[in-house]
Order: sequence, then structure tokens, then C-alpha cells
Amino acid sequence: MKAVRYHDFGGPEVLRCEDVERPTPGAGQVRIQVTATSFNGIDAALRAGRLQGSLPLRLPHTPGPDVTGTIDALGEGVDDEDGLRVGDAVIALLPMDGDGGSAEYAIAPAQALAGVPRNVPLAEAAALPLVGLTAWQALFDHGRLVAGQRVLIHGAGGVVGGYAVQLAREVRAHVIAAVGPRDVGRVCAVGVDEVIDHTTELTAALSDPVDLVVNLAPTTSRQLAALLPLVRDGGRLVNAAVDTAFGASAPCDESRGVQGIDVFVRSDADQLADLVARVCTGELLLDVTRRVALADLPALHAQAEAGTSPGKVVVLVHPAPPAREVGNP
Ligand SMILES: NC(=O)c1ccc[n+]([C@@H]2O[C@H](COP(=O)([O-])OP(=O)(O)OC[C@H]3O[C@@H](n4cnc5c(N)ncnc54)[C@H](OP(=O)(O)O)[C@@H]3O)[C@@H](O)[C@H]2O)c1
Repeated sequence: MKAVRYHDFGGPEVLRCEDVERPTPGAGQVRIQVTATSFNGIDAALRAGRLQGSLPLRLPHTPGPDVTGTIDALGEGVDDEDGLRVGDAVIALLPMDGDGGSAEYAIAPAQALAGVPRNVPLAEAAALPLVGLTAWQALFDHGRLVAGQRVLIHGAGGVVGGYAVQLAREVRAHVIAAVGPRDVGRVCAVGVDEVIDHTTELTAALSDPVDLVVNLAPTTSRQLAALLPLVRDGGRLVNAAVDTAFGASAPCDESRGVQGIDVFVRSDADQLADLVARVCTGELLLDVTRRVALADLPALHAQAEAGTSPGKVVVLVHPAPPAREVGNP
């Protein structure tokens, strides 16, 4: 089968499209004929070897933890009782320390799989898992956001930010979006309570402190520390942009009981199924900027590195076959 892999850490040039053996699913796993994966900033950080301390990879590595496709083979112990059959259309966030979906076939733990949204093409759904789960986990698992609380989403104009704004609005939080001038119109269209231009002085722009700041922007330690005074006593600063070249970590302010928390997204099939259900009802809108072929993945990494590929890019592998759908909703 074709797979895009790297044998060394480095720039986009380490990515190669190769012929490799089709993998066999082990116990508790399934093999997926991949319809699509997507590009995430974290793919670049992993490829550069920047996360070897926190998330060591064995080389060669196939990137792309997002995957949609159809089940092609079941490993030992996976059967109808798991609600999974060959031919089912599925979506998953694959474990990031294993091979990803930038290949014609991928191996997934059965417990990571969720059913696909019926109202969007299977390939488009590959835009959802990693960024949707990051937004969910930052807001709710780590941020403990509830109705009526004030949340500042710093970097709201980006891909994760788009989902974070939608999810925070849905729980009826007061949503304040800090974005660059280019993204003001876009977040206003989604509907936020307040918009702040992130190039201005945030403390002056914010009327009152917030319960939660979610940082999604590439920030230095100093910029991250500048977000801390925006949080009310006892509130939280949750930082998802841990994989950037700055490698900054969320600070705490113990004197005021403000917690600083770094987020590293984890696979969670129940949360993913919940996100899929919201896509099905139209509460959560997918945002795909463009689509490229698997062979163009090295070029896509180069464009992302050069800052010329904003938004979410889906990487198409196999055309989606007509398939039964499993799980919810
Ligand atoms: N920890 C994890 O598990 C995890 C998971 C997913 C993503 N991430 C990371 O989380 C971050 C967000 O991901 P993403 O996919 O949403 O990236 P993205 O689409 O590139 O969005 C980043 C946003 O930050 C904005 N920004 C840049 N500098 C800023 C500043 N100084 N102040 C405020 N906003 C600023 C950018 O606006 P402009 O375009 O105007 O510069 C952009 O809209 C990335 O660093 C990504 O790698 C981490």
C-alpha cells in the first residue's frame, strides 16, 4: 500500500510517499481502509522531533492521527458485540505515538472508533477529531466551563478556536473571542458576545475578568503570563498551544488560586461520538478550507511551515465507498 512516512525528524523534506506492507490488526484493533485524514499543526511539531520529550515516536512514522474510512478487517476479539463490522464507516483520533492515517490502510484500537456523521461526506469528517476533541477537552475537561461563565478564547480565529467558540456558545457561556483583524468578521458570523483585537492591550479591552482563558495562539512564556491577570481569582488558564516552537507552559498564580493547565489532546470515543452527534444536528459546523491528495502531503507540510496554508486541510486517500454506518447517532 502507499503511505507517507518519515525516517528522520526534520523539515517537510523528510516526508516520503512509499510502498509499504499493509498492516494487520492485532487483538482489540481494526484495520481501516482510509478515506481521509487531515493536517494538524501538531503533525509538524511531531515531524520536527519537537515533542520527543513528551510524546516519543518510533521511526519510521506515518503522520495523521485523524482518520475516517471503512473497516476492512477485524482483529482478534473484535466482533458484532462491539457494534463493529467489516464495511462500517468510522471516524477516530488514532493514538499519536502510533502510525496515523496518511496511508491507504491504518490500524485503530476498536475502542477509539465512533460512528460517522450522516449529513457530511465521509472525507470532510476527517476535519473533526483532533481539533474538535482539543476544543472540548480544553473547555470542559480542563476548563470546567459551565453556563453563565465568562470565557476568553485567545486565538479564536483558528481551527480549534472555531470549534471552541461554537461549543462554548452551546453551553450558554459568555464568549469573548480574541482574534486578529482578519478574523473579526468570521467569529462575529459564528456569534460571540464580545470580540477583542489580539493586537491591542487585552487588559484594557476586557471589561471584567473571566472565569476561563483558553489559549490557542502561539505564545511565548511572557505572552502567556500576560493572560493570567485576565482570569478572576480561582479561575483557570488552559493552554493548548503547547506544541509550538515557543514550547511555553501555562503559569499559575497561587496567591489568587488561578490554575494554569497545559492540554494535550487524548482520544475519547464517547466525546467524539458527542461531537459527531452535534454535527448531525447542525449545532456544530465543520470548516474545511481545502482538500489535497495523499501524494501532496509533503507539499502541504511545506506550505504550513511557510504559513501559506491557513485553515483546515483534509487529505484524501481512497474515494469513500457506500458503507453501512455504525454507532451513533
Ligand atoms: N495540545 C494539543 O493537543 C493540541 C491539539 C490541537 C492543536 N494544538 C495547538 O493549538 C494551537 C491552535 O491550533 P489551530 O489548529 O487552531 O491553529 P491555527 O488554525 O493556526 O490558529 C491559531 C490562531 O492563533 C492566532 N494567533 C496568532 N498569534 C496570536 C496572538 N499573538 N494572539 C492571539 N491570537 C494569535 C492566529 O491568528 P492569525 O492567523 O491572525 O495569526 C490563528 O487564528 C496550535 O498551536 C496547535 O498546534 C494543540
